[in-house]
Amino acid sequence: MPNHSERGLSRQTAGYGDRDFSLYLRRSFARSMGYSKAILDRPVIGIVDTASGYNNCHRTVPDLVEAVKRGVLAAGGLPLSFPTISLSEPSLYPTSMHYRNLAALDTEAMLSAQPMDAAVLIGGCDKTVPAQLMAAASADLPVIGLVTGPMLATSFEGERLAACTDCRRYWAAYRAGRVSKERIAEIEGRLATTAGTCGVMGTASTMACLTETLGFLPPGTASIPAVHAERLAAAEAAGALAMQLVDAPVRPSDLITPHSVENALIVLLALGGSTNALIHLTAIAGRRSIPVDLHHLNELSHQTPVLVDLKPTGDGYMEDFHAAGGLPALLYELRDLLHLDAIDVTGTSLADRLAEPPPFVDRRFIRSPANPISPLGGLVALFGTLAPRGAILKRSAATPALFEREARAVVFDGLEDLARRIDDPSLEVTPDDFLVLKNAGPRSVAGMPEAGYLPIPQKLARAGVKDMVRISDCRMSGTAFGTIVLHTTPEAAAGGPLALVETGDRIRLSVAERRLDLLLDETTLGRRRALWRAPPLPPRGWDRLVAEQVLQADAGCDLGFLKPAPA
Ligand code: FES
Repeated sequence: MPNHSERGLSRQTAGYGDRDFSLYLRRSFARSMGYSKAILDRPVIGIVDTASGYNNCHRTVPDLVEAVKRGVLAAGGLPLSFPTISLSEPSLYPTSMHYRNLAALDTEAMLSAQPMDAAVLIGGCDKTVPAQLMAAASADLPVIGLVTGPMLATSFEGERLAACTDCRRYWAAYRAGRVSKERIAEIEGRLATTAGTCGVMGTASTMACLTETLGFLPPGTASIPAVHAERLAAAEAAGALAMQLVDAPVRPSDLITPHSVENALIVLLALGGSTNALIHLTAIAGRRSIPVDLHHLNELSHQTPVLVDLKPTGDGYMEDFHAAGGLPALLYELRDLLHLDAIDVTGTSLADRLAEPPPFVDRRFIRSPANPISPLGGLVALFGTLAPRGAILKRSAATPALFEREARAVVFDGLEDLARRIDDPSLEVTPDDFLVLKNAGPRSVAGMPEAGYLPIPQKLARAGVKDMVRISDCRMSGTAFGTIVLHTTPEAAAGGPLALVETGDRIRLSVAERRLDLLLDETTLGRRRALWRAPPLPPRGWDRLVAEQVLQADAGCDLGFLKPAPA
């Protein structure tokens, strides 16, 4: 744990057995970098630098680091940037989720081991921000978050495009034969034309909004586009704010509280935000021993309207949300539902922040509770014999006509089986069947990828079928849409009931009753359970550690040994 009693470079001395010598050595090596004696006496602000040649969403991080440094230097501090693991959504095998906890472990260790009085965490792409908040929650060092910000949408032949709802829309049309090979190749270069995170209310945008709701971001900065000058100004302000934390620390333990976590859940529901954010918020809160109860999520979802009209739930892009008033405007609309005693990193309460209405709100993108997109929240948890500990449906991006059904299961044993058979013309499947994917949860070798958006079998897609009920133990991209049941817990690889489902079984879905049931008698279930075998453990390394330690979705998929010890 950090030694909070020292300041600047005097903190966290290396263990040479002689503290004065350790400091002498540290300072002399720091002098080798050209620092003056005087500047080495300043408070130190660490800057987590997640630039990476693999991470498109973090292309602007070098500029942001420079702007943060400017803010720190102007406020009298010494900024020291350092690299941590950077996770790019499309660049990682088997999936970035498999490495979120590694990034959290890395970041926590470096925040705790290196001398710094406060830190600025620069994240953006889906898993980086949750990993940083998990790390900060455990290290409990004062930190400011800074997100890279969303990309801008592109105008192209009369329509607007941005990653990645439009990627999925075009790909589905291509699979259905409505878009040619040449056209899909042309679109490839039009989907992400500026720096920044995905331009819709996907996981990165949702997590940016939740991070601001939890109080970690400079207020009003969650949705500033990556390429706006305002983004660099926010970075400079983050550096200056970090310096304020040196003498007036606001720690993650002050920000992550039962009230702020509930506020974040309410904002998630009102955004029509990403299902992934639920897992991440659960993991972040779990680092402070705050449970996120899915039954309580349903209660909140019943009273929280969807107010934000952005893809994939609605029509707009993140730049529209920002111009419409952004998160401060949304928080104002939700003020009657929120705990107003929650504070932000400046120490200001929500009550004070929301004392005055925002100067402008564009109602096309941020509705009032009197005129919501939907009177009910975007997410709903389902429970039943197929999901004893819960499963999640993003009802705001689903097809209501599919919500109350009993149907035949068409089961895929894992990702390879899915890839091999989904487009097989001889696959026996109708639009009324439920597609079921198992062995893709957090403990599986697949690592809980964003494969829950199972493709519609090509022969059905070509016949015009646009949505079917799909059930799995994996996740879905925050930019995706459809009647998709995710995070089925316990997962198949942990021996959950999903492991026992076979093609031809009947499954009943009732969103109204919050139920997901496998309609099988106990004798059949018992017979199948007796034959089930756990998958073999990976032989070594990170994969082995994950398989042994990863918790289920209802515990945020954290690693068991990283959770706080019971008090
Ligand atoms: Fe990084 Fe979407 S790929 S936010």
